[in-house]
Amino acid sequence: MPEIIVDKLTHTFGKGTPGALTVLDDINLQFESGSFNSIVGTSGCGKSTLLKMMAGLFTPTDGQMLLDGEEIKGTSRRRGMVFQQDAVFPWMSVSRNISYGPRLRGAGKKEQAEIEEKWVDLVGLKGFEDRWPRELSGGMRKRVDIGRVYANDPEVLLMDEPFGALDAQTKERMQDDLQSLWQVTKKTVIFVTHDLEEAIFLSDRIIVLSARPGRVHHVEDVALPRPRTGEMRLTDEFLDIKRKLWKMLEH
Ligand SMILES: Nc1ncnc2c1ncn2[C@@H]1O[C@H](COP(=O)(O)OP(=O)(O)OP(=O)(O)O)[C@@H](O)[C@H]1O
Ligand SMILES: [Mg+2]
Repeated sequence: MPEIIVDKLTHTFGKGTPGALTVLDDINLQFESGSFNSIVGTSGCGKSTLLKMMAGLFTPTDGQMLLDGEEIKGTSRRRGMVFQQDAVFPWMSVSRNISYGPRLRGAGKKEQAEIEEKWVDLVGLKGFEDRWPRELSGGMRKRVDIGRVYANDPEVLLMDEPFGALDAQTKERMQDDLQSLWQVTKKTVIFVTHDLEEAIFLSDRIIVLSARPGRVHHVEDVALPRPRTGEMRLTDEFLDIKRKLWKMLEH
C-alpha cells in the first residue's frame, strides 16, 4: 500500500467565474513510503499548486489525496513543507529556529536542546547554533529551513524548489547533503524542481507534468545506484535520462 495516493485530482482556480483557470487535470499518483520523488514540468504547469495541496494549504476542486489511507485535509505536522524562499525567523538564532516547531507543541527545555543538537548537526550547521539568520549565507539559511522542518518530525517532506536560488556549487553540496539526510531519516520526500540534473541525482522517481493544465505526462524510474556521487552526473546512464526528459519538456 503506497503511503500517499493522489486520486483524480483536478484544480480550477476561480471555478465558475469568467477567469476560471484549470491548472491540474486528473492527476493520479502514488508515492511509496521512504521514496524520493521529484516533480518537473514547465513554469506554470501547477507544480507548486500540487505541492501546496498535499501540504493542505489548498483544497482541490475535484479528487482527493490520502496519506496512509486518511484523507489529506488542512495542514498537519505529518506533512512538512519547505518553500523556495527561506521561512526562517530573522529574530531567532539558528538553534531557536530549528526547535521552533517542537517548542510550539510544548516540548520541554531538555527535549528542545536534544532536538537542536541533533538537527543542527544533521544539516551541517555545527558551530553556527547561536548565529542570527542575517549572518548566514543563502545556503546556510536553507539548511536552517530544512532542519526546522525535519525537527518537526513529519512523515512526508514537501519541498518546492528549495535550492532554486542557490549558485551551482552550493546547490550540488546541498543535494549531496539532502541525499544523506534522506538516507538517514528514510522519510518520503516530494521535491519540485526545474533542474533535471537535480531531479535525476536525488530521485527514485521523476514525475513529468505536461504544460498547463498539468497532467502526468511521464513517470521515470531512476535506477542509478545509491549513494549517488558527483561523478555519476557524467555517466551515459545519467545523461541518457537527462536527454530523454529534456526532450519531453521541450515539447
Ligand atoms: N492562488 C491562485 N489564484 C489564481 N491562480 C493561481 C493561484 N496560484 C497559482 N495560480 C496560477 O496557476 C498556475 C500554476 O501555478 P503554479 O505556481 O502551481 O505553477 P508552477 O508549476 O509551480 O510554476 P513555476 O515553475 O513557475 O514555479 C499559474 O498560471 C498561476 O498563475
Ligand atoms: Mg512553482
